[in-house]
Amino acid sequence: MARRLQGKVALITGGARGIGAAAARLFSQHGAKVVIADIRSDLGRSVSNQIQLESGHPVSYVQCDVASDSDMQNAVDAAVSTYGKLDIMYSNAGIAGERFDPLAKIKKEAFGKVFDVNVYGSFLAAKHAARVMVPRKSGTILLTGSAVTASYGTTPHMYSASKHAVVGLAKNLCVELGEFGIRVNCISSFGTPTPMGSESMGLDEKTLEEMFTTIGNMFSAVGNLKGVVLKPEDVAEAALNLVSDESKYLSGLNLLVDGGYCLKSAY
Ligand SMILES: NC(=O)c1ccc[n+]([C@@H]2O[C@H](COP(=O)([O-])OP(=O)(O)OC[C@H]3O[C@@H](n4cnc5c(N)ncnc54)[C@H](O)[C@@H]3O)[C@@H](O)[C@H]2O)c1
Repeated sequence: MARRLQGKVALITGGARGIGAAAARLFSQHGAKVVIADIRSDLGRSVSNQIQLESGHPVSYVQCDVASDSDMQNAVDAAVSTYGKLDIMYSNAGIAGERFDPLAKIKKEAFGKVFDVNVYGSFLAAKHAARVMVPRKSGTILLTGSAVTASYGTTPHMYSASKHAVVGLAKNLCVELGEFGIRVNCISSFGTPTPMGSESMGLDEKTLEEMFTTIGNMFSAVGNLKGVVLKPEDVAEAALNLVSDESKYLSGLNLLVDGGYCLKSAY
């Protein structure tokens, strides 16, 4: 297999599970030294160990709440002190927030929580990545949006608003950091079965698994591309494309990994 990230150092926030864990595994298979930054330490450590065993490339874990400036600073510093540099920042951590509430019932706190993680967390990831990338005039930053940045009415308002903000942030950062040769993009996927959607329902593993299959099929039915279920691994493949050197002139992009769903839902 061609190793597209050989010699690279990648930090992935929210890498303990879901899309982030799939990306950590894929980046590691492609030769990157990976740092997983998450708040789920037990899971983060075991996933890191497991991926390292599978790929034979170093994977480490750092406890990090992306909404904390000092945690994010520490995570980036840990990557640099362990592996000597940081080439890739994949800011993937995100939360869905409260389930649909009628407009009149939504409180400021609910917005704050989602914006702290999704928007301010993305900002801090980019800020600390840039701190170590700018002096080297090299690196790439990938933020995480969602298909809700191009389709409407399917998620709570704060989630949709936060993901639009992330796209705006990525584009603004792309302009500032282009001067230093640093690419900034955003990846926006359609629904894919991960623990995020089901967590609030408090279901056991078996039920979750069954539900994921149902959710996957449900997404497939709702989606534009029939007979295909988008998996976290597919989003990771798209992320790999964006962060690898083959995409050396791609910056400021909001890549929709949606099988055409947003085009279909736009009319
Ligand atoms: N799953 C989907 O359908 C979907 C669709 C579009 C976009 N996304 C986005 O993709 C990203 C990953 O989603 P997922 O479905 O894999 O979710 P997930 O809940 O399975 O995984 C998210 C990870 O982020 C971590 N995390 C949450 N808050 C954190 C914080 N404050 N600091 C550090 N880590 C934190 C969690 O512990 C978890 O490991 C999110 O930004 C999400 O909004 C997901």
